[in-house]
Order: sequence, then C-alpha cells, then structure tokens
Amino acid sequence: MKQSSVISPSILSADFARLGEETQAVLDAGADWVHFDVMDNHFVPNLTVGPMVCKALRDHGISAPIDVHLMVQPVDDLVIAFAKSGASIITFHPEASIHVDRTLSLIREQGCKAGLVLNPTTPLDVLDWAIDKLDMILLMSVNPGFGGQKFIPYVMEKVEHVRAMIDASEREIRLEIDGGVTVDNIGDLASAGADTFVSGSAIFGSGDYAATIAAMRNSIGD
Ligand code: DX5
Ligand code: ZN
Repeated sequence: MKQSSVISPSILSADFARLGEETQAVLDAGADWVHFDVMDNHFVPNLTVGPMVCKALRDHGISAPIDVHLMVQPVDDLVIAFAKSGASIITFHPEASIHVDRTLSLIREQGCKAGLVLNPTTPLDVLDWAIDKLDMILLMSVNPGFGGQKFIPYVMEKVEHVRAMIDASEREIRLEIDGGVTVDNIGDLASAGADTFVSGSAIFGSGDYAATIAAMRNSIGD
C-alpha cells in the first residue's frame, strides 16, 4: 500500500554558504525530509559533502529526517560515519557495494532505515532478493551526479513496475523518485506509484519555496 507522500528537497541546489538557514527555510516552507546528496568524484563525477556537514545540520537544530543518498564507492565506512552524524535513512547504489546484503544489514544495525538506489537503466532484479531488507527503493530519473537535469521519461514506467513489486511484497517500503522532479511531472509520478519525491532545482531555484511545495502537494493530491 502506498504511504503518505513525502517531499524531500535536495540540498544540492541550496546555497551551500548558508546551508543551515536554507535547510530550515525549506522545512519551514512545508518540506518533510532533507535529501542529502553525497558524491565522491569516483562513483559519480562530482564532489559534495560528507558526514561532518550532516552533523553540522543536526547541531544547527535540523530535526527532520535526513535522507542520505550515497553516490560513493566503497560504501560501508561512510554508512557508519553518517549513522553517527545524524542520518535517518541511508540509500546506496548496488553497483557501488560488493556485498549488498551486508551493507543493507549494516545500515539497519546502525539504527537507520535502509534503501537501494537504481540508476535509470539498472535492472530491477536486484530487488528480488533484497526486498525483505528494504525500507525504501529510490529510482533515479537522471544520471546521478548533478542537479538541474531533465527527467528521463522511460523511468515513469519503471515507477509503475516497482510499485507493483512493492504492493506484491505487502511490505512497508517507500518508493522515492530523484531527478528532474517538478510541479509539472510530480502528479504523474504520484499516479504511477511514487510516494517520496526528491526535488532540488525546482524548489531551491524557485523564488518562493512555500508556494512551490504547496503546488507540488496539490499536484500529488493527498
Ligand atoms: C542527482 C541527485 C539529485 C539531484 C536532484 O545526482 O541525486 O538528488 O540533486 O536535483 P534536481 O531536482 O535538480 O534534478
Ligand atoms: Zn539524490
């Protein structure tokens, strides 16, 4: 069953010089979670922020769930570091971990919710054996590495497939979508079965965070 909708703005498009204020501002504007994109210039061609910055947000007073999206290789040491730094949910790409089952267990042992992230063309078969250990499945609708890219249309169908898999499992697993999510396509994504929406440039690039988030919720329709 689909869970209530969550909007998780990606801080990748925030003003990094004012990250604490910007994060609080999107939460005050109605966002539910904080999407924290971690890039290592190895698994993806960009370099962003690490556990110290996650902890700095907690120390600044951010209490909302922090949704850590690891685009790094190797994965496991950073799972531990992020769990200690205040992460609530940790997701990683199966291509980046040699032992996916072990990494999923590690995330849960550290007290966080666990998820797998699938790139646009990554097949769904990894889910067959991992589904019992998942709290979230994150589908990438752009190639990871940068904000502000265009939504890849075929991922819409992939959302429908994963929704059917989650429903068949009868488990409480969130279906998150990340990349090129805007006010214009979020309604279709919700209809296809997504319940958790990452959006970076469409929120932080808008003049009015509250109006954009409200318009997104209106399009989602719950
Ligand atoms: C891309 C990141 C995304 C990105 C989304 O690698 O995982 O979270 O920040 O940004 P927009 O919403 O601008 O596509
Ligand atoms: Zn992301």
